[in-house]
Amino acid sequence: MITPLILSGGSGTRLWPLSREAYPKQFLPLNGDGSLFQATLERLRALPQFAAPLVVCNQTHRFMVAQQMYEAGFEPGAILLEPLGRNTAPAVALGALQALESDPDATLLVLPADHVINQAERFAYAVKEGEMAARQGALVTFGVLPTRAETGYGYIKGEGADGVVQRVERFVEKPDLETAERYITSGAYYWNSGIFMFRADRYLDTLARYEPDMVEACRQAHAAATRDLDFIRIDELAFARCPSNSIDYAVMERTDEAVVVAMDAEWSDLGSWAALQDVAARDEDDNVLLGDVLAADSRGCYLRAESRLLATVGLQDHVVVETADAVLVAHRDRVQDVKIIVQRLQDAK
Ligand code: GDD
Ligand code: MG
Repeated sequence: MITPLILSGGSGTRLWPLSREAYPKQFLPLNGDGSLFQATLERLRALPQFAAPLVVCNQTHRFMVAQQMYEAGFEPGAILLEPLGRNTAPAVALGALQALESDPDATLLVLPADHVINQAERFAYAVKEGEMAARQGALVTFGVLPTRAETGYGYIKGEGADGVVQRVERFVEKPDLETAERYITSGAYYWNSGIFMFRADRYLDTLARYEPDMVEACRQAHAAATRDLDFIRIDELAFARCPSNSIDYAVMERTDEAVVVAMDAEWSDLGSWAALQDVAARDEDDNVLLGDVLAADSRGCYLRAESRLLATVGLQDHVVVETADAVLVAHRDRVQDVKIIVQRLQDAK
């Protein structure tokens, strides 16, 4: 049986001002009824069988996670609470250590909590395709056909041999624009979806080869964790000593034991306002209008009002997001830089 491991520790800074430290994007109903976190759970129902999901999140979000799981009808395997963020490589290590407690043969399906996948059946199909390789010890990645030279993603080159499961020849995390453009033109690369599947023991062994201090710190932090009900509080002192790195840089770029399974499931990472705009329904002027919005003579805009009437005249290709205590106005082409604002706000604290 596969053990889902949901990573829900990011704060989604590029979706400020809707996504906040206290209430990050994965818990917001951004694109439909439930939240993205709940959609991640729901998608599991397409799998033939799975163990109770493990969640790794920041301790401040514990009640939101517990509540949203309950609402979605899921019993948690455990909710691991990080006292501070050390990025995804340690978060997955904590999940692996937890899974091994109950099943020494555990195979993890690592799932980011903030993605949209419209075709759950096809997602389940890709998982099925990769399962055997994972059980046999491969580190399985899921590749998505790229549509633009996005610099915020990882790129995967398969070894080209026909077959659904290909050996990874190269994995490059967040290349610069020029490199990304080259990859797109070559037609030989997938985007890394950020979903992974591997045996828990195999992940820890591989990570220990490249980041021994990280694995050691995670082992200590997990061994010293305190438990209350479903919550497992990772020990702060030990975890603070853990180096920070993502699974992509720490493991995937370095290992030669990765394989890639193509996943054609209408995947998208709603990482920015422009990405949200791209998947939302538009009106005849190509605008996305959400909430109490009046748009006159405006085109190609994403206009979202949470608490007041928002009105625009003659506006083009802009994002305007109104909330009770902050308003963002940005050009569509600059929405990646919203994180600059968030950084400034943090610096000013
Ligand atoms: N528990 C926990 N702790 N979760 C975390 C942490 C952490 O410290 N940091 C990030 N996460 C969660 C995020 O909430 C998200 O669900 C997932 O891990 C991935 O982290 P991101 O920070 O969103 O990564 P990214 O978008 O920059 O890049 C990854 O995803 C891309 C696709 O969306 C990489 O895997 C790329 O290669 C990939 O293309
Ligand atoms: Mg992301």
